[in-house]
Amino acid sequence: MIPPKTVRDILDAARIEEVVEDFVTLRKRGVNLIGLCPFHHEKTPSFNVNPARNIFKCFGCGKGGDAVTFLMELEGFTYPDALRWIARKYRIEVEEIQQSPEYIAEQQLAESLYIVNDFALQHFQDQLFETDEGKSVALSYFKKRGLREDTIRAFGLGYAPDQRDLLLQRAKTAGHNLELLKKNGLCSQDGTRDFFRGRVMFAIHNLSGKVAAFAGRTMSSDKTIPKYINSPETEIYVKNKTLYGAFQAKKAIRKQDECILVEGYMDVISLYQAGIENVVASSGTSLTEGQLQLIKRNTSNLKILYDGDPAGVKAALRGLDLALEQDLNVKIVLLPEGEDPDSYVQKIGSEAFEAYLSRESKDFILFKTALLLEETQGDPVRRAGLIKDIMGSIARIPDPIKRGTYLRECAALLEVSEQVLHEETNKLIVAALRKKADRDARQPGAASDSQAEMPPPDVPVPAWEPGIPVREKPVQRGDEFQERDLIRLLVQYGDQVLPEENVTVAELILADIEESLGDFDNPLYGRIARECHAHLVQQQPLSQAYFINHEQPEVRELAIDLLSSPWEYSPNWESKWNFPLQNQKMPDVNFDTDARKALSVFKIRKLNKLLDTNKARLKAAALQGDEKSERNLLQINMKIEQARNKIAKEAGIVLLPK
Ligand code: GTP
Ligand code: MN
Repeated sequence: MIPPKTVRDILDAARIEEVVEDFVTLRKRGVNLIGLCPFHHEKTPSFNVNPARNIFKCFGCGKGGDAVTFLMELEGFTYPDALRWIARKYRIEVEEIQQSPEYIAEQQLAESLYIVNDFALQHFQDQLFETDEGKSVALSYFKKRGLREDTIRAFGLGYAPDQRDLLLQRAKTAGHNLELLKKNGLCSQDGTRDFFRGRVMFAIHNLSGKVAAFAGRTMSSDKTIPKYINSPETEIYVKNKTLYGAFQAKKAIRKQDECILVEGYMDVISLYQAGIENVVASSGTSLTEGQLQLIKRNTSNLKILYDGDPAGVKAALRGLDLALEQDLNVKIVLLPEGEDPDSYVQKIGSEAFEAYLSRESKDFILFKTALLLEETQGDPVRRAGLIKDIMGSIARIPDPIKRGTYLRECAALLEVSEQVLHEETNKLIVAALRKKADRDARQPGAASDSQAEMPPPDVPVPAWEPGIPVREKPVQRGDEFQERDLIRLLVQYGDQVLPEENVTVAELILADIEESLGDFDNPLYGRIARECHAHLVQQQPLSQAYFINHEQPEVRELAIDLLSSPWEYSPNWESKWNFPLQNQKMPDVNFDTDARKALSVFKIRKLNKLLDTNKARLKAAALQGDEKSERNLLQINMKIEQARNKIAKEAGIVLLPK
């Protein structure tokens, strides 16, 4: 574990622009720096880095945060690993303090396993490149299959000669622990024989490029021996979270904003060599949720290349609903009969191959619909089953707009009414939600099983399904503009001192709205305001860092948002309040006026609300002929109006007639 003091040192040292520039080319625009967003595909830069605030924000895809979140998102680091990365960059010594003994043991074991694999990789490469046998048997095999030497090196290919215990002997001489070799599956459990013998070797890297495992391919075409053998699962090799080639493909996947999925090791390597670098392989098994998440972290677009017969492809399609749940856009490409990606790209060349991919790629759902439609021709019972099957896929798409588009297109393909399909999907969604609610009720606090999670329905709730939870859209209601602006001031300048009163902005604001703390229209803004108030009461400081590092993610996100758009005002401001913001000094310089104005606007809104309530009472009193109350309420009305107008006048705000 990194000691808290070192964590602070690291966070202090991290300059967002310096960290980002290791990955993204930035150029100056005003006080900020901009560049092409590494998190989504774009041609014009909307990725902003604000050195003064030490944060980044992409106005295209919405991602934002500090240097640590940047590294976590981009490199898939854990929090401590992101810190360690920064520490290395700034040469801060990290003296890890005591961890639980189990954790230390785990880390040490993982490290040693990697070390042994590194040794094995070196050995296999030496055998391939430096021995006569390797050159004549294995290197020539790879070359015959069209691989260049730079490709062979980039993928850590090697050779394990057909000898009983060559690796074992070498490892022993070099002082490696036999138990670790066994654990990595490099030798037999009795420690007498090498596991990989007489095979060409493929290193399987983890995301950061360390060798997690190996696969060995026989060079013989004898069908009775397995074509590939693999390392077993270990602490450092979890199959269902590993995609072959992901380390080499990572950058290209982000750049192209697309991940191509193939089946075999050789397919990945061959395409990579042909310049199509955004390729990974599932290694012959169906995609797991962990693998899909790995993809999703880098792109939302998945293109799957199939080389099987239609029956095989159909079976494969079944596993793809999981990809839809991850909100991936899935495309399918069928290769010509008898070709796999490796053979086909070598046959027609990379340009023609890429042209083929863009020409032949089909949307997964529409592809599946067409495929199933073809085989249920004229069989109404099977056709009903087919509709259910497809609606089952569509129901898993979390995005309601995307779902709607599919329903429309499938309705046309299936020749049924769109309404019927909507209802069918909603039934499925509701059923899944119920199931999930049941499960949650049975195990309170248990982690939800995302596999069965479904998005809420989007079309108007049919009468036959009472009480369906519909996800609330983030609309701005009532005073949310004004409330947001107050929270912005708290986050941006909460700890700045106003010279005139010698109080901080936070104190000024919160003291002034103390009685409205319970009346926020937006629950999050209200919660933050009350929390800040409690903080001040206890005389605890409020800084930007406090909000950016807040324990609640929604507060952190809001803080980043507010800090990233300091000069962005609601377009309503000016017209509504005649509030000449654009002509004013930058708010950073002008927080004093800024705070006072925002406060005035907020108070005016709340007073207007009070006026409305009062007017309603007045009307009721008039109807009942209750003159005494009427007079009373009129008095109150005047007082509120006076208070409001006074605030407006002082703040230079022109009140528009209601
Ligand atoms: P080549 O036949 O050399 O072109 O290899 P390939 O990588 O194209 O393999 P293929 O398309 O036959 O199989 C796809 C993937 O399935 C392979 O890359 C392996 O990950 C896996 N696979 C194939 N055969 C075996 C096997 O016999 N055992 C195991 N464990 N995996 C296999
Ligand atoms: Mn192949």
